[in-house]
Amino acid sequence: MQSYLAGRDMITTQEFTKDELETIFDVAFDLKRKRALGEPHAYLRDKVLAMLFFFSSTRTRVSFEAGMAQLGGHAQFIDSRTTQISHGDTGKEIGEIIGRYCDGIAIRQCDWGIGNDYIRGVAEASRVPVLNMQCDYYHPFQGLADMLTIFERFGRNPRGKTINVSYAYASSYQKPMSAPQSLILLATRYGMNVRLTRPPEFKVMPDIVDQAAENAQRSGGSFEVLDDFDAGFEGADVVYPKSWGAMLTTTDNDESAEISKQYTDWITDERRMALTNNGEGIYMHCLPADRNIEVTDGVIDGRWSAVYDEAENRLHVQKAVMALTMR
Ligand code: CP
Repeated sequence: MQSYLAGRDMITTQEFTKDELETIFDVAFDLKRKRALGEPHAYLRDKVLAMLFFFSSTRTRVSFEAGMAQLGGHAQFIDSRTTQISHGDTGKEIGEIIGRYCDGIAIRQCDWGIGNDYIRGVAEASRVPVLNMQCDYYHPFQGLADMLTIFERFGRNPRGKTINVSYAYASSYQKPMSAPQSLILLATRYGMNVRLTRPPEFKVMPDIVDQAAENAQRSGGSFEVLDDFDAGFEGADVVYPKSWGAMLTTTDNDESAEISKQYTDWITDERRMALTNNGEGIYMHCLPADRNIEVTDGVIDGRWSAVYDEAENRLHVQKAVMALTMR
């Protein structure tokens, strides 16, 4: 067990060894148990987390704030538009200055080609851990919560189980590809048979695909890329169909939305869930989902759905990482 994670940034899970990830999951399960029993666990008393958002959020904001309070500390919500960032405060200044006031800096910056670089710039300047609350490339806490949910359903060793991480159509906005990218990077660390299913215009980053394939080879799992929506569901134990933008094809959101209209039939419905392993595969989505566009009410509210456990698990994995890194 690698127990010393004090001071570490969490920008992508790829920068953590398997032992370190196991420590995070052990602590997350323990904190979930403690919360269920009402056992106090104020490991971060008097500590402060600055949470800087460049993009809207429901789950991430509320779960980080609640998590810090439950750990005995405090979380500050900072909307980037109310700061002096637009008047010249750079990432270096944010890292240097907020790092002197607070004990951790969490950031959500999802702008394509900007977010990850910005978070890494802040981390370089900061003396305290920097936590990635979602960027253009990674959503590490979502990936950790997804894996915790998979462990709860299939046990701590999901080797050999098949997960289909798939594109789905949505009309609301061109969503980041960071959640599917983080999940394929993690599921391939655990020996799962990982499918990435997407139309040709909705490729994910080639570097991430290469890392996932390498992870699978090391862990004894498998990784394949499909472009047939139904084929992705066949025999899968877990399906994770969600929308993302065609950023590798065009950086113009309107053009991406136009391209996506070819795929309005990429909706998760009861017929497709029947194709999963014995018709009992679990349905996962990081939320928010476009109901009856991305997924039918019958599926997201049905017996297959794990979406609320998955959302809850954000709280427990985030508390684990904060407790381990912000000491
Ligand atoms: N899944 C997720 O990150 O949700 P929010 O965008 O609401 O934070």
